[in-house]
Amino acid sequence: MTLKNDRFLKALLRQPVDRTPVWIMRQAGRYLPEYRATREKAGSFMQLCQTPELACEVTLQPLERFELDAAILFSDILTIPDAMGLELYFTTGEGPAFRKPVQTRAAVDALPLPDPEQELRYVMDAVRLIRRELDGRVPLIGFSGSPWTLATYMVEGGSSKNFSRIKGLLFDEPETAHRLLEKLARAVADYLNAQIAAGAQAVMIFDTWGGLLMPEHFRTFSLAYMQRVVEQLQRERDGQPVPVILFSKGADGHLEAMADTGCDALGVDWTIEIGQARTRVGDRVALQGNLDPSALYASPETIRREVQKVLQSFGPGSGHVFNLGHGIHPEINPEHVKVLVDAVHELSAPLHG
Ligand code: CP3
Repeated sequence: MTLKNDRFLKALLRQPVDRTPVWIMRQAGRYLPEYRATREKAGSFMQLCQTPELACEVTLQPLERFELDAAILFSDILTIPDAMGLELYFTTGEGPAFRKPVQTRAAVDALPLPDPEQELRYVMDAVRLIRRELDGRVPLIGFSGSPWTLATYMVEGGSSKNFSRIKGLLFDEPETAHRLLEKLARAVADYLNAQIAAGAQAVMIFDTWGGLLMPEHFRTFSLAYMQRVVEQLQRERDGQPVPVILFSKGADGHLEAMADTGCDALGVDWTIEIGQARTRVGDRVALQGNLDPSALYASPETIRREVQKVLQSFGPGSGHVFNLGHGIHPEINPEHVKVLVDAVHELSAPLHG
């Protein structure tokens, strides 16, 4: 099937585009009233993820409103630990939690490796359904958490303030941490390859908590395992390249090392100028980002000005996918997202061609 809009895939591969492509992390989420309605209908966030028809419905919702250049599978990074038997649930106000966290060497060794077409079949069914419904409008992004970020939730038992358990493990029992991360690297690679086989046209690895680590720990416990995942991925399907994006939040000190993993693009948060990031990675990878998500609280005029600044900072030429530096906040006015998306397309035209 031919894609009607392949700007996003082209930019990830640093091939010429007519406009800078744009999508928004968490573009299907609580800031949209239609998302809240579907979530209500599903009964819970997990039910929404586990019902392919509803996951497909919310994936497409932001595309009906905005001229986005990519869709992202609606799911969560914590589906893998759930499939490993940790029993994921969500509490209002406190976020995700596990009934059975993993806190001992024996528990790590007992963790099963999920079969993506069995325990995670609902995700693969959603990917297949979304591809069918998209009918080539824009490409579909699949995703996973990084081994390190999944390990933080699995050992802490959910969201955490100071990450005391997982940090304690790194210092006191590094071997146990490595065994867990090895298992997760295999699970993540299997999961992403299954998404690619089901129809995901690009994949993104979210290393949300990479920035917690001192440099030595980042290299050994986060980066090394993302590298293993990248090395195991299926990079082509039906003759088309499947680009890989790594996003490590708060880890801009490691951009060069991340670019050397063999990925195609790096996500960058808003604490670094994207132009400086471009100078540092050169022509090794494309970049995705990096407007401060809080800019969307501002007026339409301010949003346009801030979009322009990010575009100018990256400068002319391909290799930029516009996005926020992290997920969109639930209180944002959807009209402001339209302002952002339209501004990216309009203001980026002079940078190409
Ligand atoms: O970008 C997209 O639109 C795709 C969907 C997506 C979700 N979660 C949906 C979601 C993606 C890519 C994720 C990834 C994810 N999940 C990450 C990494 C991304 C990042 O932000 O760095 C993390 C750390 C999680 C774990 C998780 N899931 C958290 C911390 C929460 C928020 C809890 C809260 O109440 O704020 C979730 C739930 C979640 N995942 C929501 C959505 C839309 C909100 C759930 C709801 O409807 O209440």
